[in-house]
Amino acid sequence: MVIERVGVLGCGLMGSGIAQVSAAAGYRVVVRESSEELLRKGLMRIEGFLATGVRRGKLDEARKGETLARIHGTTQLNDFAACDLIIEAIPENLTLKQAAFRELDAVAKPEAVLASNTSVLCILELAMVTKRPEKVLGLHFFYPVPLMHLVEVIRSLVTSEATFQCAADFAATLGKEAVATVDKPGFVVNRLLSPYLMDAVRALEEGIGTIADIDKAMRLGCGYPMGPFTLLDFVGLDSALHAAEALYKEFRSPRFAPPTLLRRMVRAGFLGRKSGKGFYTYSEA
Ligand SMILES: NC(=O)c1ccc[n+]([C@@H]2O[C@H](COP(=O)([O-])OP(=O)(O)OC[C@H]3O[C@@H](n4cnc5c(N)ncnc54)[C@H](O)[C@@H]3O)[C@@H](O)[C@H]2O)c1
Repeated sequence: MVIERVGVLGCGLMGSGIAQVSAAAGYRVVVRESSEELLRKGLMRIEGFLATGVRRGKLDEARKGETLARIHGTTQLNDFAACDLIIEAIPENLTLKQAAFRELDAVAKPEAVLASNTSVLCILELAMVTKRPEKVLGLHFFYPVPLMHLVEVIRSLVTSEATFQCAADFAATLGKEAVATVDKPGFVVNRLLSPYLMDAVRALEEGIGTIADIDKAMRLGCGYPMGPFTLLDFVGLDSALHAAEALYKEFRSPRFAPPTLLRRMVRAGFLGRKSGKGFYTYSEA
């Protein structure tokens, strides 16, 4: 399958980034949101990101204009009919995603590949609601998509080799590095990262150090670009909790279990940068 037209379902944090990098790589992109208002917000996020790139000398006005011109925003599912690859990036909820895959399967041409950007959900559960399970796989991008080089390419038990290769080749054309992995919660990155983040919260609960000192220790002692609490605030405490719960549900190992403090903080609405407060306090939410 030759990819010429890319569809992106959802123009939130991830969908807008995926639409942007696909258009920047020369693909014609259709991005669908559930309302005109959300679509406008998503397209403005793309424009803002590109404008910052121009200000910083990463690209020129002409390149920005060409990229934006290749993106067609819509609220109509039927606009995906001509797409060769459709990447779903809607909220992390199995019921919602299964409904979306049923809809995508109905409108997409039979040879189109359907991908999910899910972080922890089972790809097979999405594939099996379609009539093309062998053409369904995971394409897991990282936030912020234009800056992060990794894409995890996830085979389910029934993903065909041709589908896998097509998606891996596509990721390479975006200038991303692909890592092949299998359909187990957390794939590679979250499988290893989540227990580390949960351990950091447990260490805090036990009084091993302050938030700032644990962060500092991991930055300076391990050469990490940021400490675990800065990272948790960046990722969102609710997203981190959700990932840990999914991993714990599957593997039943205490290393994946989310600690009480994290649950309490999410319950209190301390979600990190996006809510203005997490382990640190931010002046702008
Ligand atoms: N945010 C991250 O750091 C990150 C990183 C990797 C993967 N992911 C995964 O990417 C997916 C999306 O996450 P996000 O952070 O972009 O979420 P988000 O909430 O920012 O965006 C989701 C968007 O999907 C839209 N949407 C919902 N239903 C829709 C539908 N039927 N059709 C079209 N649009 C619809 C919503 O209006 C929203 O704008 C999730 O599965 C998440 O786990 C997120």
